[in-house]
Amino acid sequence: MTALRRLASPVLTRGGRFSVFKATTLGLIFIPGVWLLAQYLAGALGARPVLALVHGFGLWTLRLLLITLALTPARSLLNAARLNLVRRMLGVATAAYGGLHLALYAAQQNWHLGHVASEIWRRVYLTIGFGALVLLLALAATSTDGMMRALGRNWKRLHRLAYGIAVLGLVHYFMQAKAEVYEAAIAAGLFVWLMAWRALPAAWRGKPVAPVILLPVGMLGTAGLEYAWYAAATRVTAGRVWAANFHLTHWRPAIWTGLWGAAALAVVVLVAAVRGWRRDRVAAPSAQPVARMR
Ligand code: HEM
Repeated sequence: MTALRRLASPVLTRGGRFSVFKATTLGLIFIPGVWLLAQYLAGALGARPVLALVHGFGLWTLRLLLITLALTPARSLLNAARLNLVRRMLGVATAAYGGLHLALYAAQQNWHLGHVASEIWRRVYLTIGFGALVLLLALAATSTDGMMRALGRNWKRLHRLAYGIAVLGLVHYFMQAKAEVYEAAIAAGLFVWLMAWRALPAAWRGKPVAPVILLPVGMLGTAGLEYAWYAAATRVTAGRVWAANFHLTHWRPAIWTGLWGAAALAVVVLVAAVRGWRRDRVAAPSAQPVARMR
């Protein structure tokens, strides 16, 4: 492979053709990072801008991880095999955002690497984040064609670790958020949705019935995990947090998970309807001569 082709490989298909889909995805991946850095340079990140960057990159590490995990259900529900084209790219981007998250934390500690290491060792939520990052980097390092060939079937087994990494990332998120876990609860609910999809019978996973079933499961998962966190790890009266889910004046995290679930259902129904309409249009002209012959 020439050096130029190797450089361009993220936007090429396996057959070596330029892929607009891959190029667009690559461009989108850069947006959050560039946006955060632009805000930093514009002095728009408040009194502790480097810490704000640490938060921003941490949040996007977890978001990209959840998006990567959502590709398999999306491919199955939308019957869109081309989503496979960007899975590796998204996985590697997740690890890159994670690496930058750690680098920014080190920058925030004025590059006192001994102190960074001792903090990671001493603080449980940082140890958990570190574990997640090491595994993310291991998955990224084994994402080359050569490693995929060398690992064979074990590659798939190894990459199932992504689900465990998401759990570690979520625990790290909840622990650092302490008593303000609004967004962490939404992320956890979306993860429950993804896991519940995997638990469905294989025959249902690609059908619209899947997002119908998963919508309440995701909502309940969000409210349940939020309740469990407040009950187990804080002094907040968890029962009141649970009860707030039934007062629609305050939008609790479960409502947002429900909206995401409803959006997934709407996309599945819409794509199926458009495909059906297109099929009918293609089939219609061939039916005409038959009708005339009669
Ligand atoms: C060596 C590895 C890591 C270190 C040292 C680290 C460190 C940190 C620190 C210092 C914070 C801010 C805490 C505070 O302000 O009290 C943070 C927040 C966060 N980290 Fe990490 N982290 C690591 C790995 C990860 C990984 C792998 C993920 C995702 C899978 C992640 C996701 C997050 C999230 C979502 C937040 C909260 C962002 C927000 O509140 O807006 N971190 N991390």
